[in-house]
Formats: sequence, C-alpha cells, structure tokens
Amino acid sequence: MTTDKTAPHGAVLPEAPPEGERPLVELRGAGKSYGTVRALHGVDLAVHAGQVTCVLGDNGAGKSTLIKIISGLHQHTEGEFLVDGAPVRFTGPREALDRGIAAVYQDLATVPLMPVWRNFFLGSELTKGPWPVRRLDIARMKRTADEELRALGIVLDDLEQPVGTLSGGQRQCVAIARAVHFGARVLILDEPTAALGVKQSGVVLKYIAAARDRGLGVVLITHNPHHAYLVGDHFSVLRLGTSELSAARSEVSLEELTHHMAGGAELAALKHELAQVRGVDVEELPDAADVADAAPAPGEGNG
Ligand SMILES: Nc1ncnc2c1ncn2[C@@H]1O[C@H](COP(=O)(O)OP(=O)(O)O)[C@@H](O)[C@H]1O
Ligand SMILES: [Mg+2]
Repeated sequence: MTTDKTAPHGAVLPEAPPEGERPLVELRGAGKSYGTVRALHGVDLAVHAGQVTCVLGDNGAGKSTLIKIISGLHQHTEGEFLVDGAPVRFTGPREALDRGIAAVYQDLATVPLMPVWRNFFLGSELTKGPWPVRRLDIARMKRTADEELRALGIVLDDLEQPVGTLSGGQRQCVAIARAVHFGARVLILDEPTAALGVKQSGVVLKYIAAARDRGLGVVLITHNPHHAYLVGDHFSVLRLGTSELSAARSEVSLEELTHHMAGGAELAALKHELAQVRGVDVEELPDAADVADAAPAPGEGNG
C-alpha cells in the first residue's frame, strides 16, 4: 500500500512521508486536566510500527493518563493527538479499537472460570449455521485461538483449562495474542510485568518482542528500566505529568535510564537525610552511592 499522491501535472506531492516513517500514533504537546488537576502537559510521543515505545515514570507521573488518551478512555485537553498523521479526538475505546489501537490493562478483562479459547473470543464469538439456528463454532474458535497463540510462540498444554489456572504471565500473553488476532496495529500494555516474578516477566517481554516483530507498534508502560531496556526502541520518562527524557535507544544507556527513573538528585538528597539518622549505614545503600556525585549542596535541594 502506498500513500503517495500524484498531482495532476505528475509531480509527487511532498506532504505524505513514506509508509513506515510516519508514526501510527503521535502526541504533540499533549496534556490533560481533570478539573483543576493538570495530570499531563506538553508531552510528545511517537509510536512507530515494528517498534516498542517505552513510557516510564514513578507513581502519579501521568502514565495511565497518557495511555487513556491514546486508547480513547479520556480526551486530551491540550495539544494534539494524531493517528496516521491526522488529528483525532476519540469519544470512547470502541473508536480507538476501530483504528487498531488496543490496550491491555493490568486487571485483564478475562473470566477466570471460562476456558482459554472462550476468553480469547469473549464478546466476538464465532458462529456457524444459518439464522435462526446459528450456534457457536467451538471447533473453529479452539483452532484459531491455538493458531494465534502458537504464532506468537505461546504454547499452552490445554486450551480447555480455565483462564484462572494460568499464571499471570500466561494471561498477559493470551491478552496480547487476542489483541493481535483482532487486528491491533498499536498495542498498549499498562505495567504488564508489575505483578510478575523475574521468569514470568521474561516470558511477557518475549511476547512483546514477538508482537513488535509482527509489525505492531507497542507502547510499554513500566516503572522498571531494566524491563524497558530489554525490548525498547524509544524511551520516554514522565515526571510530574511532563516528559523529562525522550530518547532513542542509541541515545541513552541503561545506567542513564535507571538514573532518570530513580530520580537521581532526589535519591542523593534522601541519602543526605538518612545520614542524619543514627543506625543507618548509608554506604550500604547501593543506589544512593551511585548518585552521590549529583547530591545538591545542603540547603540547596528542595525535593
Ligand atoms: N480521574 C482523575 N481525576 C483527578 N485526578 C486524576 C485522575 N486520574 C489521575 N489523576 C491525577 O493525575 C496524576 C497522574 O496520574 P496517573 O496518570 O494515574 O499516573 P501514573 O499512571 O503514572 O501513576 C496524579 O496526580 C493523579 O492523582
Ligand atoms: Mg498508572
């Protein structure tokens, strides 16, 4: 598919950048206020096909607000939100889904007692036979769910097992495969590894990479810079509702990313305070020692 437009005299109009370079989704100076609370402001973000864009930030930084704008749950109150290069204003998640933008939230919308294949098709069940005797096409749903899971490299022993018996990581994977199957171009994952152990996190990150390799634009929300750095192509660190760092992988090291996430100067100030508390050996605090150089002079730091 090409987006090149040809003018009557044969010249190619310059307005449309080549496919693949134009972001699927873009925020330009975007912001959101809830009444008088300015949760997000001046945020730029671009989501490209076949890339993982990581959004990092502490609690309250505005991560959820940002993805709620992109997934159609909330509307931005400042700046621009573009899909395929055109400004949009979604009135609900259905509209975002219709444009191929799917979000997987931490509290996954699954029914624990239903089998895996049933959850895969929840709300979009396949049927067969002529009206009015249409019935569920169970065989096709099982087969399709199995194929889609395997295509992402996810092998479950038994698709009949209730989703509630899967591990947290496996459930995330089913949700990812489901979004891919139903045509997502942009996949937003809100803290998918937050409640998981190291091994399970690795499994989820592997499938995030698989979704990226299938050409999806993935937005990974996390507060773990190590997880972000394993799969990320671009990193955006939010602090107090605005973008503190926006860098491509080649422009930032894991150490720098960790430092930004840890709130380097704040941690150094904390170390200084802890030094006044008897019984705390601050030299034993590994992260604080790393950022000691960035410590503000006494009285200078205001948190
Ligand atoms: N519905 C809301 N009404 C009012 N304030 C909100 C609402 N949602 C979030 N906020 C505020 O916006 C800020 C950013 O929150 P959020 O986007 O949830 O951050 P994060 O996901 O990074 O923890 C916080 O100060 C939070 O209290
Ligand atoms: Mg959040």
